[in-house]
Amino acid sequence: MSAMQINAPDFVTNQKLLQWVQETADLCQPDSVYWCDGSQEEYDTLCQQMVEAGTFIKLNEELRPNSYLCRSDPSDVARVEDRTYICSIRRQDAGPTNNWVAPKEMKETLRGLYSGCMKGRTLYIIPFSMGPLGSHIAHIGVEITDSPYVVTNMRIMTRMGRKVLDLIGPDSDFVPCLHSVGAPLAPGQQDVPWPCNDTKYIVHFPEERSIMSFGSGYGGNALLGKKCFALRIASSMARDEGWLAEHMLILGVESPDGEKTYVGAAFPSACGKTNFAMLIPPKSYEGWKVTTIGDDIAWIKPGENGRLHAINPEYGFFGVAPGTSDKSNPNAMASLSRDSIFTNVAMTPEGDIWWEDMTDTPPAELTDWQGKPWTPGCGRPSSHPNARFTSMASNCPSLDRDWENPKGVPISAFIFGGRRQDTVPLVYQSANWNFGVYLAATMGSEKTAAAAGTIGEVRRDPFAMLPFCGYHMGDYFNHWLHVGRTIQEPPRIFGVNWFRKDENGKFLWPGFGENMRVLQWVVGRVRGRASAVESPLGWMPRYDGIDWTGLDSMTPEKFSKLMEVDSEAWKKELLSHEELFEKIFDRLPKEFPHIRELMLSTLWLSPAHWAMAPERFSGEN
Ligand code: OXD
Ligand code: MN
Repeated sequence: MSAMQINAPDFVTNQKLLQWVQETADLCQPDSVYWCDGSQEEYDTLCQQMVEAGTFIKLNEELRPNSYLCRSDPSDVARVEDRTYICSIRRQDAGPTNNWVAPKEMKETLRGLYSGCMKGRTLYIIPFSMGPLGSHIAHIGVEITDSPYVVTNMRIMTRMGRKVLDLIGPDSDFVPCLHSVGAPLAPGQQDVPWPCNDTKYIVHFPEERSIMSFGSGYGGNALLGKKCFALRIASSMARDEGWLAEHMLILGVESPDGEKTYVGAAFPSACGKTNFAMLIPPKSYEGWKVTTIGDDIAWIKPGENGRLHAINPEYGFFGVAPGTSDKSNPNAMASLSRDSIFTNVAMTPEGDIWWEDMTDTPPAELTDWQGKPWTPGCGRPSSHPNARFTSMASNCPSLDRDWENPKGVPISAFIFGGRRQDTVPLVYQSANWNFGVYLAATMGSEKTAAAAGTIGEVRRDPFAMLPFCGYHMGDYFNHWLHVGRTIQEPPRIFGVNWFRKDENGKFLWPGFGENMRVLQWVVGRVRGRASAVESPLGWMPRYDGIDWTGLDSMTPEKFSKLMEVDSEAWKKELLSHEELFEKIFDRLPKEFPHIRELMLSTLWLSPAHWAMAPERFSGEN
């Protein structure tokens, strides 16, 4: 067979890139090859083509300017963790929490699947930068895809196009990311609005730093810069090179006198990360501001002054739509007010979008995410629970002025939190870095109705990285311990839990903007201002260590419940960590069993020994 014409522009001089595009085109046999320049005209043309093909619906230009609705195939609506593989050369390097197949065997399987898989389609080449162009913290990737939906989403989610090709030049390296929806068209065959394949593979080769994805067009399966590159491949690069690639939002806290403190925070999926990243402080916090650097991923490298500096490698938000509202997150609502792509949400008769809880009263009639008529009483949700908006960060009112600073921003604190209805207090500070790493490694979250399994059951999700770590979790914990030994000014580490409930099953904490009160204490701690008392878990605020102006419902009694460290519950909790330890026993940090024993032994003391005995805790002495 003769080689495909790949039409490389003259200025593309990178031999690795040219060769990879040529080999991929020869294998996948697309009808044509297109090099993306990232321009507005290119974006508009692709959107128009998708409107004509029935993939996109243009939304009402007045109500939702420059925006589109897309409905995926009902079988292709989320990340597929059971089809996600880390194909390291040695099985033990992927660890027990990742799927693994030997690279050679996996490549043979994939070769069969990719052979002729782009027939009847265009092969698009998307050069992209994760992070500000030219930043020493940023890295470059090139995605090949046969999906124009992916191209348009990648233009919002990454810096992409001609400017990145120029940066690659003749000898820069890049991460090759191959994606196909796996739906070749026979001559004359009519396409469907959302092509995909029942057979799906999301595959990472950490040693050669490459990604191959087949069969899905949705989110993290297809926008390969995000979970695949920025977390799975990057975590493995970070381990080799001495930095951190984390599933963390980054926010800035600005005090009335202009003091700025940056915080990275990790929460498992579905714990309100985007809301926290875009928090609006309560009215009583006049002059305080929370600014947004990122809502999902942080790349963090050692920088000036012995501190860790972070960038958001992404350029937009791929947020969960249902639940997002002017109440829960006005900044997200402003970000998605225009220039956005909506996937699997409902449409109003006026040509705008709607989803569950966007407004208190649902519209009288809608077209649901599958294109069917919908009315409020019909018994089905109008939007898929994992429906998404893809929106530009630059449309977010709370965006930090330094969000594109190539040096990153200095991180003063890490916050880790899960969804726990009992046991875990609102906030506590780890005694030191190692205890903090233990806290993050053992954090857990209760299963919600959306996830499979028993509701309420705690699933350990170390660092919120369980589905996203590209190597052995035990090595990952050791890497974190190592970073703490090499950084002069390590960030302080905190645990939070917004989800604790009282004996009647009611949330004890209002959440959302009120989380500012916790943030202020965190900032006070790292600045050496805020007082704290000792507990078996670390340092905790007293009742009068937090400003309660405007939140009268938070009485000292309620606060004590919210902060309670129940010895029996914590003995159980610490013992349950054994399950995770056993799983990764061969690479478990040697520090971990010691830390657990130390915490256990503190719990055997009576509370009177803790500095947080109730009378001190409620601030009455
Ligand atoms: C996400 C996730 O989509 O964490 O960000 O699942
Ligand atoms: Mn995420």
